[in-house]
Amino acid sequence: MKSVVELKHVSKVIRGKKIIDDLSFEIVEGEVFGFLGPNGAGKTTTIRMIVGLIGMSSGEITICGKDVKKDFEEAIQHVGAIVENPEMYKYMSGYHNLLQAARLIQGVTKEKIDEVVELVGLKDRIHDKVKTYSLGMRQRLGIAQSLLHNPKVLILDEPTNGLDPAGIREIRDYLRSLAREKNLSIIVSSHLLSEMEMMCDRIAIIQKGKLINVQYVQEDTEVMKRTYSCIVDNPKKALQLLKKQGYQINIRSNELELMLDKEEVPEVINYLVHHDLLIYEMKKLSRSLEDRFLEITNNGAVKANA
Ligand SMILES: Nc1ncnc2c1ncn2[C@@H]1O[C@H](COP(=O)(O)OP(=O)(O)OP(=O)(O)O)[C@@H](O)[C@H]1O
Ligand SMILES: [Mg+2]
Repeated sequence: MKSVVELKHVSKVIRGKKIIDDLSFEIVEGEVFGFLGPNGAGKTTTIRMIVGLIGMSSGEITICGKDVKKDFEEAIQHVGAIVENPEMYKYMSGYHNLLQAARLIQGVTKEKIDEVVELVGLKDRIHDKVKTYSLGMRQRLGIAQSLLHNPKVLILDEPTNGLDPAGIREIRDYLRSLAREKNLSIIVSSHLLSEMEMMCDRIAIIQKGKLINVQYVQEDTEVMKRTYSCIVDNPKKALQLLKKQGYQINIRSNELELMLDKEEVPEVINYLVHHDLLIYEMKKLSRSLEDRFLEITNNGAVKANA
């Protein structure tokens, strides 16, 4: 897949302190990429470097192959971003705000404005004054504004900050459908794992300016062996039989635990049935992202202490 944003060994030192430490990762076309880390981890700083609001001390950032340092104009034309609160005129309508923003960009047509309004679902309220908008609607207007110039990547720093659960859900759904329909790459930051889990395809975990890990939210790919638990009437017999067949298998509190490819699941069931075992349950044990997250960050802490 095509890489849209790439960071290579990016570091930032402010007043002798390393705020960002050797970050490298890339974001591909059409994915929602989450930037997860506690307060002060360096999310905003990294985003500010990506969009060129501050310089980096070392390293390289490219957007659609263009170097942010050397070809700033060309690189930044592919980016739509809301880093600090989006600038809006509260006493003007949403529509007039968009017109105002469009004046600063070459070649934005009325149709384009209508399109972005439609895209973020503000059609019914776009002619109302912004001061009457909810926070979620303002966020969406901000997103509409940052989409006017057809960016390839949308970057939002904590887009759900201050929103209630319904607002969070709304933004989340819009972002997901934007990525899908427009093949747009989206970078969002947050300190909330649960939220990231629902919104993102991949999550980069950052702690004290360092990249701890990059995870797919859906770890569940077909190639990967997964753990299944199986309840049968005679687990010991089943264990012996399946071991002989070469399966990776254990017994845990009277349940069988098997490592299987998806395709092996019906095989195993068939096999057990043909050997007169009664199967009461066969299910995939999913490890939540939270489990994985804690595992990773604990490991990170262990490594850091070592
Ligand atoms: N201009 C600056 N001068 C000194 N320190 C800075 C500056 N900008 C950021 N920092 C420090 O860099 C670290 C990372 O800050 P940053 O704002 O990037 O974190 P964050 O992950 O966005 O946090 P939050 O979740 O609170 O928004 C913090 O320790 C912060 O104090
Ligand atoms: Mg921040």
